[in-house]
Amino acid sequence: MQVFHHIQSLRNALSEARASGKRIGFVPTMGNLHQAHLELVKLAQSRCDLVVASIFVNRLQFGLNEDWDKYPRTLAADTKKLSAVGCSMLFCPGEQEIYPNGMDQQTRVIVPSMANVLCGASRPGHFEGVTTVVSKLFNIVQPQVAVFGLKDYQQLAIIRRMVEDLCVPIELLEGPIIREADGLAMSSRNSFIFAEERPLANILQGSLAGIATQLQAGNREFAQLEQTAKAQILAAGFRPDYVSICESKSLNPAASDDQYVSILGAMYTRSARLIDNIAVVLDKPNH
Ligand code: PAJ
Repeated sequence: MQVFHHIQSLRNALSEARASGKRIGFVPTMGNLHQAHLELVKLAQSRCDLVVASIFVNRLQFGLNEDWDKYPRTLAADTKKLSAVGCSMLFCPGEQEIYPNGMDQQTRVIVPSMANVLCGASRPGHFEGVTTVVSKLFNIVQPQVAVFGLKDYQQLAIIRRMVEDLCVPIELLEGPIIREADGLAMSSRNSFIFAEERPLANILQGSLAGIATQLQAGNREFAQLEQTAKAQILAAGFRPDYVSICESKSLNPAASDDQYVSILGAMYTRSARLIDNIAVVLDKPNH
């Protein structure tokens, strides 16, 4: 695997590959790679000739009181994992390379319709930081295909909307949520969870799955279902941030006749903020 720290050297290598007709796939990450990230690389490999992964812990998407400084940085182990799955290129730039004019002066990309709800409500500016860095990375790599995981459902929906609104010529692929044996979605932040809290942390997934079952059974009392799930999270000793049944594309609160619905949730353990979601396709009501 070739490793690049600078935009120009990556571009030189990619333009050679492009000239020889190679189809380029891209997997952006913040590192501390686990199985879910590697599955995204494999998905990109199945559709492309060459896959570029990036590792950049993007300070622009972290709030002032968030965990940018604590975010696990494991570049040597990450490089080995990417090599082992046959990733072709790794781009791991420094902050100066991505934000040479400083972050305050950086031109921003904003998706106004979905950035301030759900996770965006408790993480102001987060999605603006994501869409800005993803736009820059798209322009640096210029892939035909980019792969994102469904675990960060709101992020994916926002990037989809950005690609549509800005006519970005990149096909987006979605990787399924990869979970631990007990249902907890894999995340770099899982390493922050205290040992005594860990056995109960799958309540987030469990409470969302409970809503999915109820929806499939015809229950459309959305507010009550959301309340019940939050009560379950609280009873397990965690602080719910939100549980919300949304229309899958717009992320607006679901209407009772919506067919494509996503149940999204976030909760705080004592030391980490966790997110999860489940998509359900509902039968059209017969009337
Ligand atoms: P990061 O949290 O490192 O995630 C990189 C990619 O891995 C994202 O597309 C995310 O959805 C996916 N992913 C993480 N855990 C997953 C799981 N358990 N199952 C499926 N996919 C999973 O998301 C980011 O980085 C950043 O916001 C980024 C897009 C790189 C911009 O900085």
